Amino acid sequence: MTTATIPAEELTEDQARDELARLAREIEEHDRRYHAEDAPVISDAEYDALRRRNLAIEQFFPHLVREDSPSRKVGATPSEKFEKVRHKVPMLSLDNAFSDEDVIDFVGRIRRFLKLAPDAPIAMTAEPKIDGLSLSIRYEKGRLVSAATRGDGQVGENVTANARAVADIPNVLKGDAPDVFEVRGEVYMTHRDFQALNERQRADGKPTYVNPRNTAAGSLRQLDPAMTAARPLKFFAYAWGEVSDMPATTQFGMVEALKGYGFRTNELMCLCQTAEELLKHYHAIEERRATLGYDIDGVVYKVNDLALQQRLGFVSRSPRWAVAHKFPAEKAFTILRGIDIQVGRTGALTPVARLEPVTVGGVVVTNATLHNAEEIERLGVKIGDTVMVQRAGDVIPQILGYVEERRPPDAREFEFPTVCPCELKTPIVRDSTAGGGEGVVRRCSGEFACPFQRIEHLRHFVSRRAFDIEGLGEKQIEFFFHDPDLPVKSPADIFTLAERDAKNVKKLKDKEGWGAVSASNLFAAIEARRTIPLERMIYGLGIRHVGERTATTLARAYGSWKEVHDAALAIAAGDLKAREEMDALEDIGDAVIDAIATYFAEEHNRRLVEALAAQVNVMDAERPAADSPVAGKTIVFTGALERMSRDEAKDMAERLGAKVAGSVSSKTDLVVAGPGAGSKLKKAAELGIEVIDEDTWFQRVGG
Ligand code: IVH
Repeated sequence: MTTATIPAEELTEDQARDELARLAREIEEHDRRYHAEDAPVISDAEYDALRRRNLAIEQFFPHLVREDSPSRKVGATPSEKFEKVRHKVPMLSLDNAFSDEDVIDFVGRIRRFLKLAPDAPIAMTAEPKIDGLSLSIRYEKGRLVSAATRGDGQVGENVTANARAVADIPNVLKGDAPDVFEVRGEVYMTHRDFQALNERQRADGKPTYVNPRNTAAGSLRQLDPAMTAARPLKFFAYAWGEVSDMPATTQFGMVEALKGYGFRTNELMCLCQTAEELLKHYHAIEERRATLGYDIDGVVYKVNDLALQQRLGFVSRSPRWAVAHKFPAEKAFTILRGIDIQVGRTGALTPVARLEPVTVGGVVVTNATLHNAEEIERLGVKIGDTVMVQRAGDVIPQILGYVEERRPPDAREFEFPTVCPCELKTPIVRDSTAGGGEGVVRRCSGEFACPFQRIEHLRHFVSRRAFDIEGLGEKQIEFFFHDPDLPVKSPADIFTLAERDAKNVKKLKDKEGWGAVSASNLFAAIEARRTIPLERMIYGLGIRHVGERTATTLARAYGSWKEVHDAALAIAAGDLKAREEMDALEDIGDAVIDAIATYFAEEHNRRLVEALAAQVNVMDAERPAADSPVAGKTIVFTGALERMSRDEAKDMAERLGAKVAGSVSSKTDLVVAGPGAGSKLKKAAELGIEVIDEDTWFQRVGG
């Protein structure tokens, strides 16, 4: 069914979104035929009609305007997308703090990690968290040579030409800059510039933009640098990547240096010594928020001393030495139209509130999570109620309560279903609690037979932190799952798509919503992910309790896919030695091991994994420092350490390529023991394992 004949104002939001996606693809394809191949296949009038249709829908649904919308492009669209660049130093994200306690905990954690006294002052910077788009700009011998967006933190998009077009970004650094200097910061748009841009759009009869952040991001990621130049973008510098010769030893000093090189830096940055001072500055910035003229969404705290930052290091993708203290969530009222049940990857059923669309903090919200049946009961909400919705940062919106006086007489109570909404109608089971009682989570018992769970598994598989296949998002997974010609029912099917399509009579490019460009881009993106890092492979399987961090621990400990796979199969088959070995890894306990055992005990899963492994090349885990004296060794820390905390010790050993275990076994190569070490020391002696003290450890690793 096509919606192309329905007047724009009568489309539902879903139909509008789909049609905008289809139009973006079709128009792009016609542009390419016209500009790149000089071989248009439709008349100018037909082409204009497509563009007009796109504009009409965008006028009624301004919040659905796509970043790649044809209305945002002028002239010829270059056929090449952005080149990808690998960041030499990854671009990380920040952990969030939402309350004063979170901030106090954060400072406490740092003190403990560094083994400082609980009241020792620790210098930290506090500065606004700019709501924009982060950018890394590389200067060599003082000249701008490249610029890249953050992307997934490891690989970003090359937007060099566009960065050069931003007036705030110097092409040549002032003063005496190091040979290599990568400056990082935020591209943003001021409120005044945003409003002026929208006034121009309105005057030209074009759709207006939703918020400054998305507009700034869209402007920087324009394929035509002239478009970027026409947009008033600004840039605050606050961080750095690769630097050949550091001009300062503190965060504050580095930002001063950035200023000296000609960058705009934020004048609200200040130096504090305690959590109380940080909080005071947070409230001062919060008070000025409305008058700053640009969007900020919190305050970032960073340890000032760079040597301490180095010691603190990172936990998965965020530094231990920094945190983003977010401003409180924004709230709004709207009507609860209905409650749907969503089936997650693990079969957990989550009630989702369908809301009358409402703007909360600049974003249109149509859904909110209700968590579980108990939450609905606790809130006392009924369908038809006016509810208060809260949105905090990137978190899924939540319902806080309803307005008693505005409850309509026909408000309906929601009844939680007893069977899964999938076509199998499998009974719902409740998790048990640790004490053996009934838990709040209800699950579909269908597991892999349940189509919802299978789709969710596939979605997880292609998600950003797993296989991250460009152009294969939630929508496309749903499409392929149901497509009779090119079905994708399990991860391996993704990697045979191109081959199967080549044999099919009905090609993907001829299907509704697809074209030659989008189909071939998709096949190329899939091909690019056929070689995959070990931790992504493990994480992508979607085993319960095996998150990104656990996947990384397993990858580092076992090193190769074969080792991980063999261990998992052995554990599933009840091999106690294999189980013990995994159990010895720090941060991995029974919940993870049981989940791995359950997963691999299932024949269906084993076949799925084998089929997938036959399609992909799994890279061995990165061995952080193969040449260090402890690389590849299994180390146990025990007793009281004096120069570093246990966490710091673990971090340091892992960075040096060692595996850190929680207990001593025949696999242990080295025990580092402090005063008070007991049974582990005894066991090491029994097994004849080398034991050293903390000072010897530092001598050995050169600390
Ligand atoms: S520091 C290693 N400082 O927030 C940490 N980030 O959630 C590097 N951001 O991707 C980031 N203002 O885009 C830092 N003053 C600020 C910031 C800031 C905004 C963004 C940045 C980053 C995200 C992290």
